[in-house]
Amino acid sequence: MSESATPTFPKHLLDFRDWSRPQVESLLETAQMMQEVLSRPVKKVPALTGFTVATVFFEPSTRTRLSFELAARRMSADVVSFASATSSTTKGETYKDTLRTLDQMGIDAYILRVDAAGVCHQAFGWLQKPIINAGDGWRAHPTQALLDAFTLREKLGSLEGKKIAIVGDILHSRVARSNAELLPMLGASVVACGPATLLPGHLIGASLTTNLKEALSEADAVMVLRLQKERMDKGLLPSLPEYIAGYQVTEERLRWAKPQAPLLHPGPMNRDVELEGSLADTPRSLVERQVANGQAVRMAVLYHLLVGKKS
Ligand code: CP
Repeated sequence: MSESATPTFPKHLLDFRDWSRPQVESLLETAQMMQEVLSRPVKKVPALTGFTVATVFFEPSTRTRLSFELAARRMSADVVSFASATSSTTKGETYKDTLRTLDQMGIDAYILRVDAAGVCHQAFGWLQKPIINAGDGWRAHPTQALLDAFTLREKLGSLEGKKIAIVGDILHSRVARSNAELLPMLGASVVACGPATLLPGHLIGASLTTNLKEALSEADAVMVLRLQKERMDKGLLPSLPEYIAGYQVTEERLRWAKPQAPLLHPGPMNRDVELEGSLADTPRSLVERQVANGQAVRMAVLYHLLVGKKS
C-alpha cells in the first residue's frame, strides 16, 4: 500500500471506539505483510529499531504477552517486561506510580493488561504515549478481536453477511465485547449465547440468546469462550454438569452450524467444559491458527502506533 493511501491512526488501541473501518482494514493488510516477514528464514525487520516497548501485565497471560514481546523483537524494538508478582506493586505502589516510574526509563509504548476497566484510558492520560490494551477486566481485548477477525477472514474470505456465534461466559468476557465491537464493523452479525446468568443485559454489536440451537443455527463460524471462574460470583451456575449439559459445544451440536463452520477459541481452553475436548484437535479448529496469527497482527498494531501516521 502506498503511503498516501494509508489512513492516519489513533494514538492508542484501547478499544475500537476511535477506530474506523478503513483504519482496521489497513491494519489487517499490514498484518498480512507481517505474515510474509514471519515466513522468512530470518524473521526480523528493522522497522522499530530504536524504540523501546514495555509489556506491563497485572494479570496472567501466555499468548498475549509472549506474542507481543516476539512481535516487538521481530521488528527490532527493545523490550522490557514488567511482572506484577515480582514488582514493587507488592509493596503498595499504585498503577499510576508504577507506570510513571517506568516512563522515566525511556519507554515508547506500553502494552497493558489490568484487572479493571478504564485503567488503560487513564494510563493514556497519565503518559500521553501509545497504550495498547492487552485486556482490561471484563471490558475489552482489542488485539484478540483483531486476530480473530484476521483468522476468520483467512478462512471465510469477506465477513460481509457472515453469522458468527459466540458461546460461553459472555458476561465476564472482554473477548466477546471486543469481537461484538469489531466484527459488525467488518460486515458480520454476532450472536452471543450462554445461560441467562452469564449474559449481560445488553451487548453493543451483538444479539443475545440463551438458546444454543438458535445461536449455532446456520452460523458461519463458532467462537467458544471459557467460564471465567476467577471473575465469577458464586451462584451464577447451578453446577458445572448442568452448564455442560446445556451449553458445551460438541461435535453433535456443531451440526446446527453450517457444514465445516470453523471453531475458534481465544484460549486458555478448558477442554471438556466449554467444548468437547477432542474438537480442538479436528481440522475445523482454528485455535492454533489464532495463536500463530496473533504475532503478525500484533506486529501490525505496534508498527501503526509507533511509526504510522497519527490522526
Ligand atoms: N487469549 C488470551 O488473552 O490469552 P492469554 O491470557 O494467555 O494472553
